[in-house]
Amino acid sequence: MASFPQRVFSGVQPTGNLHLGNYLGAITRWVELQARYDCVFCVVDLHAITVPQDPQDLTRSIREVTAAFLASGIDAKRHIVFNQSQVAEHAELAWVLNCTARIGWMNRMTQFKEKAGKDREQASVGLYSYPVLMAADVLAYRATHVPVGEDQKQHLELARDVAQKFNQDFTASIAARGLGVEQPTGEGGTALAYFPLPEPLIHGPATRVMSLRDGTKKMSKSDPSDNSRINLTDDADAIASKIRKARTDPDPLPSEVAGLAGRPEADNLVGIFAALNGQTREEVLADYGNAQFSTFKGALADRAVATLAPIAAEMKRLVADPQAIDAVLADGAARARVIARETMDGVKDIVGMVRTPGR
Ligand code: AMP
Ligand code: TRP
Repeated sequence: MASFPQRVFSGVQPTGNLHLGNYLGAITRWVELQARYDCVFCVVDLHAITVPQDPQDLTRSIREVTAAFLASGIDAKRHIVFNQSQVAEHAELAWVLNCTARIGWMNRMTQFKEKAGKDREQASVGLYSYPVLMAADVLAYRATHVPVGEDQKQHLELARDVAQKFNQDFTASIAARGLGVEQPTGEGGTALAYFPLPEPLIHGPATRVMSLRDGTKKMSKSDPSDNSRINLTDDADAIASKIRKARTDPDPLPSEVAGLAGRPEADNLVGIFAALNGQTREEVLADYGNAQFSTFKGALADRAVATLAPIAAEMKRLVADPQAIDAVLADGAARARVIARETMDGVKDIVGMVRTPGR
């Protein structure tokens, strides 16, 4: 039985400051996956404008996120790095999939409820259909694996639902045109699919990095307190000072993971240390169990500075030459377009649209 070639797709929004959560929850995972998969990494500027953005900040941020990818070790020659708006097929496929997704599914999206806040009537239509654009991003490359942080789990489930409904709605047309791949259904049978059901990759000790000021809140670009997050552009002094000021409880660290229950700040710092050091929480506690926070924070700050300071320095070097970054994006977009266009041509044929062959 044929299967879909394995491919990774993931994206980061160019909004505000990239932080340690983006780095540990997403970008470092991507760096590892490069050795095993063909990867497509996208700066999702169309997603960014679902909430208001200052145009100059947006431009700067697109280049800065690209620089962060490169500085972290993403290989833009072997893989594909580009910004979403340069490949029109993302928006085009999103439209078709808007007609596949159901309003009832969208109404369950918790991130929309959080981002729209109390005055939902005033949220943009784009913010509402944001998860469909995200499904289009992944499906345009018929990606099979999507590494993300925990907060994107629901959006990926929606992407799977959209892919499955499209495959079902158009089975006959997919078959008639010979565009399908037989897929196991889970009930022992097989069904013809044009889109694979993308699998989320959410693993490791830092799938949800929390705020340094409040262990119950996610570390976020939009938190008004800069002390709540470590930005990828922070220098060594800022990193050390934010870790020193991080909220903790008065007890020493436990020697077992079970002892982190009900201690969100301790759990978060141990998780960050583990991720930075390529360890598990157990291993960290084997070394630092019963240590005072002052000792542990010192070790954590050293570890964080050792990893992040060279990345910040390299980002600074890269953003000083915007033309070179734009050239990387243009090259990535050209290669992305070839794949996305082929997918989109198939979608048009399946849906029954008339198109210019070999445009
Ligand atoms: P965003 O900045 O919302 O575009 O997120 C980009 C990537 O970083 C996604 O894969 C998110 O799941 C991940 N991410 C964002 N915030 C965190 C966090 N606090 N902890 C872990 N992963 C995160
Ligand atoms: N919504 C994701 C976030 O905010 C970013 C994103 C857009 C994405 N398209 C994607 C992630 C496709 C993975 C795959 O984090």
